[in-house]
Amino acid sequence: MTLKNKNILLGITGGIACYKILELCSRLKKQGCNLKIIMTEASMKFINPLSFETMGKCEVYTDIFKTSHENVWHIELPKWADVFLIAPLSANTMAKMANGIADNFLTASFLACDKDVIVAPSMNTNMLNNEASQNNIRILKERNVKFIDCNSGLLACNTKGDGRLKEPYEIVDYLENYFTKKDLLGKKIIVTAGATIEPIDYVRYITNHSSGKMGYNIAKQARNRGADVVLISGNANPFEIEGIKKIDIKTNEQLKNAIDDQFDNCDCLIMAAAPCDYKPVKTYDKKLKKNGSNLNIEMTENIDILKYFGAKKKDQMIIGFAAETDDLIENAKKKLVKKNADYIIANDLKNENAGFAVDTNQISIISKEKIKRYPVLSKKDTADIILDLVGD
Ligand code: CTP
Repeated sequence: MTLKNKNILLGITGGIACYKILELCSRLKKQGCNLKIIMTEASMKFINPLSFETMGKCEVYTDIFKTSHENVWHIELPKWADVFLIAPLSANTMAKMANGIADNFLTASFLACDKDVIVAPSMNTNMLNNEASQNNIRILKERNVKFIDCNSGLLACNTKGDGRLKEPYEIVDYLENYFTKKDLLGKKIIVTAGATIEPIDYVRYITNHSSGKMGYNIAKQARNRGADVVLISGNANPFEIEGIKKIDIKTNEQLKNAIDDQFDNCDCLIMAAAPCDYKPVKTYDKKLKKNGSNLNIEMTENIDILKYFGAKKKDQMIIGFAAETDDLIENAKKKLVKKNADYIIANDLKNENAGFAVDTNQISIISKEKIKRYPVLSKKDTADIILDLVGD
């Protein structure tokens, strides 16, 4: 886990979005972070420090004058931290930070901090757009403060616009990205994910059970490791991934064309998608009506996309998958040769830890030289193992 044992100094300022920080604390603790929390007086009007002590399993610091003989805490806490995260950041505290005002525990700690500072602002749209706030943002960015920009949507003041605090999972995602070593910087990677669908008529189609989870995890980890990622997604249960280019496709033909547009200047193609092997010979542009007899749909073999790019590749690395119910390694080896891939990631669909829609996988990596088997791992850790092949 990327965030395990990271020391996060969390500053909380006054705003209704404070309630989301309880969930953030819970998520960070589950990732194995160590927390220490500083609250401003205004934030304590919204939530009692006891709630954060309980969720963060840590000390909450509120009073700069309550110091000890050994430690001056607004100096010591930034020394302890790997990063200082301030969320939510109010317009008022932002203005103090931009002007070097150190009138409470949080602002004094900020001034004393020589570690990276990440802020997640939250405020009313007009307050955010006010020239004074915009100027403060500019000043802080120039001083290398990192911003987790606000979301847009319905605000507590009943208006719609920019100013919503990013969701706790998005803040965790930002931190994971921040702490990941950028060893794939300069690599352009195409990742495909999810199932393609092939239409039968205006309302019906054929597809398969692929959830897209493996491909999305690869895309996210590739982004975290600094790669330039293009995610081409079929039918999937996707989660949003900021900072990557995502192209939605439906059919094999569209998937092939979308890859083709990017292929010449990519370093690697990772085919985690599950394209349909067959498609109806004929499709109908209106809804087929029932007529009391059987419906026979004649199917024809669909384009094998991996094989197509295996034949086309020059310097690109190609990584394919083999989803099998029988003779896993034998079939995977055949696919390696037939599709001219550099690696095939084999997974046994009958293994309950490795099938569709689960969060784990158990893979074997097959290359011309060797076969390497791995234990059951999360799809995120599996993604990292696959991406290590690109970094080699
Ligand atoms: N693949 C592809 N185009 C297809 C079918 C599969 O590009 N029409 C890719 C998949 O994305 C995967 C690899 O080929 O990376 C192997 O897919 P898999 O479904 O395991 O095997 P198939 O090639 O479809 O062969 P079979 O169904 O006979 O096992």
